[in-house]
Amino acid sequence: MSVRELAKEGFLEAEPYPLPRRHPGIVYLDLNECPFEPPEHVVEAVYRAARRANRYPTRDDYDEARRLAAEYVGVDPENIVLTAGGDEALRGVFDVFVGSGDRVVLLEPGFAMMRFYTVVRGGVYQPVRLVEEGRRFVINEDELVSAASGARLVVIENPHNPTGSLVADERLVDRLLNETDAVILIDEAYYEFAGVSMAHRVREDDRVVVVRTLSKAFCLAGLRIGYLVANAAAAELLRKAFPPFNMSIVQLAAATAAFSNRDYAKRVVDYIVGERERLAEEAGRLGVKVYESYTNFLLMKTGIKDIVEKLALHGVAVKRIQQLGPDYIRVTVGRREENDRFLEALSKVVESS
Ligand SMILES: Cc1ncc(COP(=O)(O)O)c(C=O)c1O
Repeated sequence: MSVRELAKEGFLEAEPYPLPRRHPGIVYLDLNECPFEPPEHVVEAVYRAARRANRYPTRDDYDEARRLAAEYVGVDPENIVLTAGGDEALRGVFDVFVGSGDRVVLLEPGFAMMRFYTVVRGGVYQPVRLVEEGRRFVINEDELVSAASGARLVVIENPHNPTGSLVADERLVDRLLNETDAVILIDEAYYEFAGVSMAHRVREDDRVVVVRTLSKAFCLAGLRIGYLVANAAAAELLRKAFPPFNMSIVQLAAATAAFSNRDYAKRVVDYIVGERERLAEEAGRLGVKVYESYTNFLLMKTGIKDIVEKLALHGVAVKRIQQLGPDYIRVTVGRREENDRFLEALSKVVESS
């Protein structure tokens, strides 16, 4: 029997997620990264921890990072599970709750990995398409609640990637809890840019699970640090989805340092939000439709089908949002000079189209 015959079906069809290629001189606004280096206190903590890397991480290493994460979120340490990025957190939730034949409700457009996580477990995903309403995208609540009845898991990115919209509020969570039996996974990767969270719900509701990350406002994407916020009973189950040492000594030390001194994340958010508004206004002036954003990126409808290729010719990389149409792009807000490079390139492309 060939190895392909032995593998699970979902693995045969899926395309591997491509690691980004980077070349000097290009402005990369395609991955919603933070454009600033991590602060010195985090880098120093990483160095110090690396000297202890002959040993496995200890309970104290884990507990200190978890305690500070809990303090930041405003919950108890028992409500937190630390993970290697938001990605690992998401996978863990699928591991615990999704099995063969289970239905998973996903927003569309959305994160391709969620579909993959569903199908490799033998689950079936049901997309619920967001509705464009002026300069934002909204959930058709009745459609979502009806799709969620009988489903095992509902995933809501809030704020939503790639639209940048805030799509969920307390009332929607109430409806999902009252009218369905599904686990409600709220992906708050961009929480710091929106300031709106459902994390407090985990105290009362054991079916609400929140995912967060230090990849965005905390500028630590390359270190892979995320966490789950869940009711203590759910957190105990979720902890089992990860290997005992899923967090390296370096990740734990970086998380501890980042949570201990969070001022830099506030400054990053202020800078990015300021630049986001400037970028939105200037791009709007060029005749591009710019959507409202609660994140570190902007969704734009450009009316130009090969916009990604044309911007690339000017040395600027952005992400095409094919699920909305070939002329939709997602532009990460970078440093001022990077944003200016984007605006210059966009202006040239618009002029010549
Ligand atoms: C909605 C959403 N969830 C999760 C992630 C994963 O982030 P990470 O694995 O870097 O924490 C991202 C990254 O861009 C995202 O946009």
